[in-house]
Amino acid sequence: MNQDVTPAKVLQGTLKLPADKSISHRSAMFASLHEGTSTINNFSTAADPHSTLDCMRRLGVAIRELGDNTIEVEGVGRDGLETPSDDLDCGNSGTTMRLLSGIIAGSGVPARLTGDESLSARTMKRIIDPLSEMGANIDARKDDYAPLAISRNGPIAPLHFPLPIASAQLKSCVLLAGLFGDEETEVIETLPSRDHTERLLNLPIQKENGKKIITSSRSDEIPEQSYRIPNDFSAAAFWLVAGAIHPEAEITLPKVGMNPTRTGALDILKKMGASVTVSNTGSEGAEPVADLSVSSSALQPITITEDIVPNCIDEIPILAVAMLFADGVSRISGAEELRHKETDRLTAMADMLTKAGADFTEYEDGLEIHGDPQFSPQPSTFSSYDDHRIAMSAAVLGLMAENTCRVTEAECTAISYPTFWEDLRTLTN
Ligand code: S3P
Repeated sequence: MNQDVTPAKVLQGTLKLPADKSISHRSAMFASLHEGTSTINNFSTAADPHSTLDCMRRLGVAIRELGDNTIEVEGVGRDGLETPSDDLDCGNSGTTMRLLSGIIAGSGVPARLTGDESLSARTMKRIIDPLSEMGANIDARKDDYAPLAISRNGPIAPLHFPLPIASAQLKSCVLLAGLFGDEETEVIETLPSRDHTERLLNLPIQKENGKKIITSSRSDEIPEQSYRIPNDFSAAAFWLVAGAIHPEAEITLPKVGMNPTRTGALDILKKMGASVTVSNTGSEGAEPVADLSVSSSALQPITITEDIVPNCIDEIPILAVAMLFADGVSRISGAEELRHKETDRLTAMADMLTKAGADFTEYEDGLEIHGDPQFSPQPSTFSSYDDHRIAMSAAVLGLMAENTCRVTEAECTAISYPTFWEDLRTLTN
C-alpha cells in the first residue's frame, strides 16, 4: 500500500503513542519465565511484540488478552516451557529472534526459529557464537542466518562475555541463556545500550573502570511483570522532529518512556535547539516516564559519534531528517550498525535524501548532511524499503514538501506503530 502525504500547514494535537516495543517483548518473555501470573497493562498493539506473544504461546504459555491492551500471562517458570510442535515464527522482529534464542538455548527445549524475508537476511552470527560457547547446538542457514534450529545436550556453561558490539539484543540474549546456568554468566558492557532486560529482571550489576558488568544465573529470581508499559520513546521521536522542524507546530505526547539509555535523541534535539519540554515525570514499574511537548524551533547542526549511537540507534533516520533543516553541516559517524537493521538504513536514508534533493554524503558508517532551515524537499515517491522507521521518517519529511509526496509499502509502520497514519491525520486536521 502506498500512502500519500500532503504538506501540512499546521501540526497540532495530543497523541496516545503505542506502548514501548522493547519493553513489551521483554515483559511477555519474562512474565512467561516467572512462576505465577503477571498482568501487563498497555501492552503494545504492534506486530513485533505480537510475534513474541505467538512464540511464547507455542512454548506452552497461556496468555490471555483481556481487552484495553491488557494481557495476563500465566508464567510457567524457567523449567516449564514445552517443546513446540511447530516453528517459532519471529516475523520481522530481531528482538524476538535474538532474545528468544537465549531462552531456547538456556531452557534446552529444542525449537526452530524462523523469520520473514528481512529477518532471514539479518546476521545471527553475533548470537550464534556466544550461545554455542555456552553449549547450544545451533543449525543455521549458511552458518549465520535464520531459520535457527536450537538444541542442547549438556548443561549450560557460564560465559565471561565482553560485548563485541554495543547491542542490547546481544546482551539480553546471553544474559537470558545465563539465567539457566548453575554458575554465573557475566556480560561486560563498555558503551551503554538499552538496559530494560537488567532493569526488569533486577539482575546484579557492578560498575568498574567505566564498564558495566551484568551477571545472571539460576539463582536470580525472575520477578513478576505486573506494571503499565510506558509509551514508546522511539515513536515519540518522529513527532519530536516533526514538531521541531515544522514552522507551525505544537505537539504533546503523554506518558512517554524516559529510560536514559533510550533518550539520546532527546538530548541531541535539545542540543540542536529544539523546544521540547518534559513534565509530569514519574515511573511505571522499573521504568521512568514523562509527558513531552514540542514546538517549532530553529535548529543548529550537530555531530553524532559512535559513543552515543547505541542510545539513539533507532532514531538516527528521523534525526537525519532533523539535520536537513539545521543551519549548517551535521555529521553522523560510528553508525555502521544501521546497515544491519530491518533494511540497510544508511542506504535507505541516502536514497530518501537523494530524492528529496538534499546536499549530503554517505559514508560506510554514517552521513554528512548540509542543512538549511529553508530546505524544501522535492515532492517524491519515497521508498520505505518495507522498513517501519524509514516509512515514518519519509512521512515526516513529506510534511515539509510543497506538494504531495508518496511513501511505498506504508503498512509496514504496523511493525512498531499501528496508528501512525491516523496520528498524522490527527495532527494535520
Ligand atoms: C532493541 C535493540 C536494538 C534496537 C532494536 C530493539 C531491543 O537493536 O535497534 O530496535 O529491544 O533490545 P540492537 O541490539 O541490534 O542494537
